[in-house]
Amino acid sequence: MLEVRPPKGSFGAEVVGVDLARDSDNATLRALLAALYEHRYVVIRDQRLGKVAYLDFGRRCGRPIPHVLDHLRMPDFPEMMVIGNAEKHFENATVRNGAAFWHTDQSYEAEPASATMLDAVKAPGRGGQTLLADCQRAYDALPVAMKQRIEGLHAWHFYGAASGRGREHVASPLMNAEQTGRVPPVRHLIARPHPVTGAKALYAVAGTAYGVDGLSDAEGEALLAELKQHTLSPSFQAEHFYRVGDVAICDTNATLHSGVPIDLPDGPGSERHLWRISVRGRPAVLDQP
Ligand SMILES: [Fe+2]
Repeated sequence: MLEVRPPKGSFGAEVVGVDLARDSDNATLRALLAALYEHRYVVIRDQRLGKVAYLDFGRRCGRPIPHVLDHLRMPDFPEMMVIGNAEKHFENATVRNGAAFWHTDQSYEAEPASATMLDAVKAPGRGGQTLLADCQRAYDALPVAMKQRIEGLHAWHFYGAASGRGREHVASPLMNAEQTGRVPPVRHLIARPHPVTGAKALYAVAGTAYGVDGLSDAEGEALLAELKQHTLSPSFQAEHFYRVGDVAICDTNATLHSGVPIDLPDGPGSERHLWRISVRGRPAVLDQP
């Protein structure tokens, strides 16, 4: 029986008693999605999915997104990529730690990711964890005057725009003009209603946001910095250390996340190998019997 365990930290939930390879009925998926929307991220323990079954599961959660950095896509499964530290291209620390800054996935696209899932094939004994921030609670906790100020305001986003500030790492760089041409600047509401639940969250105030429509550069940057600092308050943060068999899913409409920088593997038990799938769109199961 599927069981959703209350969060140990400030948010997020652990799910046990489900085998995604076998329990592919609509009721189970709807229960998982309900837990995701309620807790913003869920970790489904003890899964043993191959790539085909995992991608099937991903497709039931939305439309998988081939990443703009096509050289990072899995050659045999282009809708998936590895988040790891052992493959050849991870010898480059910028690539290995390309997600070690606060962001949410595909906020630089007109239709951003609605969920990102990571399947832990190998997990290091220490390090390599993911930090998350709850942007819905961050919005709820804003003073009324700030809610009124940001209502209807849009932020401008561009791939990698706001990374590399302060102590953060830089996003894996776009490699060529063709990739850059695929991701022109886009705007999103700052107080953005969740596409499924309607609950507002402070959307993508870190990572790709670089300005606010209708404000001067200085005013926009100051507002985004203030909202980012508020959202990254420790009381809105959670941390996930991967165990082999975890399928961790975050609601990318309502969270920010940051990888914690990881070194190259230095012996047994020090490898991280996560299969990432990001999806967009409303899960079809929500409209099915
Ligand atoms: Fe990410």
